[in-house]
This record gives sequence, C-alpha cells and structure tokens, in this order.
Amino acid sequence: MLDRLQKLSKQFEAELGEAASQADILAVKAKYIGKKGEISSILKGMKDASPEEKKTVGKESNRLKQEMHKAISQALSEREKQEIEEQLRQNRQDISLTKSLLGQRHPAAYHPVTIVQREIEDIFTSMGFTILNGPHIEDDYHNFEALNIPETHPARDMQDTFWFSDMKHLLRTHTSPMQVRGMETHTAPFKFVCPGKVFRCEDTDASHEMVFHQLEGMMVGENISVANLIYFMKVLLAEIFGKEVEVRLRPGYFPFVEPGFELDIKCLICGGSGCSVCKQTGWVELLPCGMVHPRVLEYGQVDTDKYNGFAFGLGLDRLVMMRYGIDDIRYLHSGDLRFGQQFSEY
Ligand code: PHE
Repeated sequence: MLDRLQKLSKQFEAELGEAASQADILAVKAKYIGKKGEISSILKGMKDASPEEKKTVGKESNRLKQEMHKAISQALSEREKQEIEEQLRQNRQDISLTKSLLGQRHPAAYHPVTIVQREIEDIFTSMGFTILNGPHIEDDYHNFEALNIPETHPARDMQDTFWFSDMKHLLRTHTSPMQVRGMETHTAPFKFVCPGKVFRCEDTDASHEMVFHQLEGMMVGENISVANLIYFMKVLLAEIFGKEVEVRLRPGYFPFVEPGFELDIKCLICGGSGCSVCKQTGWVELLPCGMVHPRVLEYGQVDTDKYNGFAFGLGLDRLVMMRYGIDDIRYLHSGDLRFGQQFSEY
C-alpha cells in the first residue's frame, strides 16, 4: 500500500507539471484528491487491512493529500499570475509614443475671449451674482420692446440688426435681452451677469466685427443707487487690471436706463496725462451702464414701488485686445490656427 502511495505521489507530480490550463489543474485535482479520486479509493480499499496497516497507510495518505492540496493551490495561483501578466503584456501602453505624438501636435487651448470671460464670471460669482446664458436668436419683444425700445423708436437705428425672413426673429444685437429673460425667471431682489455673443450687421474694420462679445449685468433690490453701480464696477476693474482704477461717469443715452452713463477709466497707458490711446483726453471709454428704466422693470413684473436697480453692458473684445495686445478684432474669429495657438492658459 505504501508503495502504491509513493507511486501515486510521483505520478501526481508529473501530471501536475504538465497541466497547462486551469482546467487541466482542476482535472488533476479531481483525479487524485477528489471524492472519487485515487486517495479515496486507497482508503476505501483498506477495509480488510490490519489495524497497524490502517494506521500507517491512513496517516501517510492524509499527509500526501495535504501535500497535493498545497501543490494544487500553488499551481492555480501561479497560473492566475501568468494570465494577468499575459493580459498586461497584451494591453501594454507605450507612453513614450503618446508623448512624442503630442510633441508634434498642438495642445488644445482656450480662446482668449473664453479666458477673459471666465475670469470675469469668477469675479462676479465671488460677489454673489448668478451666471445666466441666453439664446442668440431672439424675438423683437426681448431684444427691443421690453427694453423700452418700441418699433417706432429712433434707438432701433443704433443697432443694425440681422433679421430672419419672418421679420419676427433676429440675432440678438446686445446681451440686454437677458435683462428681460432674467426678470422672467427671478423674483427681486437678484443680481446676475450674462456673457455671450452678439451680432450686428456692420462694416468690419480693425475695431468692428459683426460678431462680438458682451457681458450684461443687472442688479435689482431695495434702494440701489449709482453708488452701488460704481462700487461693483470699481471692484471689477481692480480685479481685471490688478490695480485700483480711477473711473468717471458721463451721461449716455440708452432707452432702457435712466439715468444712463458711459463709464470711463483713467488711461492705463499714460496715467491720465494724454496719449494716442486715450486720444490725448486722459480717459478711455469702457462700458455703458445706468439705472434700470422703471418701464423695463414693469415689463419684468418687478414692483417699482419697492425695487430699483442698475445694469451695465461690458464689451469683452476690447478687454481681450487690451490684455493680449491684439490690434485687430477680426483675428478673434479668423479661424487662423496660428492665432489660437498663442493662448494656452487652461
Ligand atoms: N445693450 C447696450 C448696447 O449694447 C449696452 C448697455 C447695457 C447700456 C446695459 C446700458 C445698460 O449697446
């Protein structure tokens, strides 16, 4: 019996050594230490053996069984490891290849208008303003009528409009329709800014484009005054230019604000002494603004006995051009890759 066990042990080792797959290993396991395996059958065949023999053979078969168990699980985990390594080999990524490809390509970059717009959005959200986005295709009501610009009003001539053929829809000529849309979705008090593209049918030159960018702002609450307007504008400009900026207001006319202003900043190039940028005046016109006209608030269902507010329309392209030293607005939508590749701030 002991001889048979020894033979079995050798046979087992040889077969396990040849087992290539997980299934082969499991088959060896069943053959030797399974319920109907070789070891079991040896033990079963011991019925008639002497107690002495039963003892030694029993002990030896148990030891062998344990040894086989250990060998099987070792073989299985070895096999698993091999499989994982095989998989890793097949999925190997050549990182250096990606790197060299990137070197030849141009990494993605944000458009300079996006960079400046996001910066300004951050400044306003930090002051509690919400950001609203609105449609480029507007209707007459939002772009003109609810902004106190009736059909017969001469102010409509100020904006050369791209009309759709139904003569009811148009490409928004400014972001001010978002004042109207903002009032439709918010109840006073509120404050929000709305960045986006605007469209005017204009002859283009170095400082005029048919597509450009504005950022509308509106704040409505109790007892809002021109002082609040100046405060927010000064904070905004100080953040954008990285230093305190001197401002002044001049009267300006827009049908949706009363009083309306043009906000100028002290020329940052010459410090106010006069240069070509400020046309020797010491001041640069920066943004139109004013106190929201009560009629506009009424269109927006705001209780004018209780609330008033201010609004402004910041031109983004001008700021972008000043920031990056771009001397022609037409580069912004030129689609020239050499232009876009110069801005890699993420
Ligand atoms: N919407 C005006 C324009 O585009 C600018 C403006 C906005 C003026 C808000 C006053 C208040 O010309």
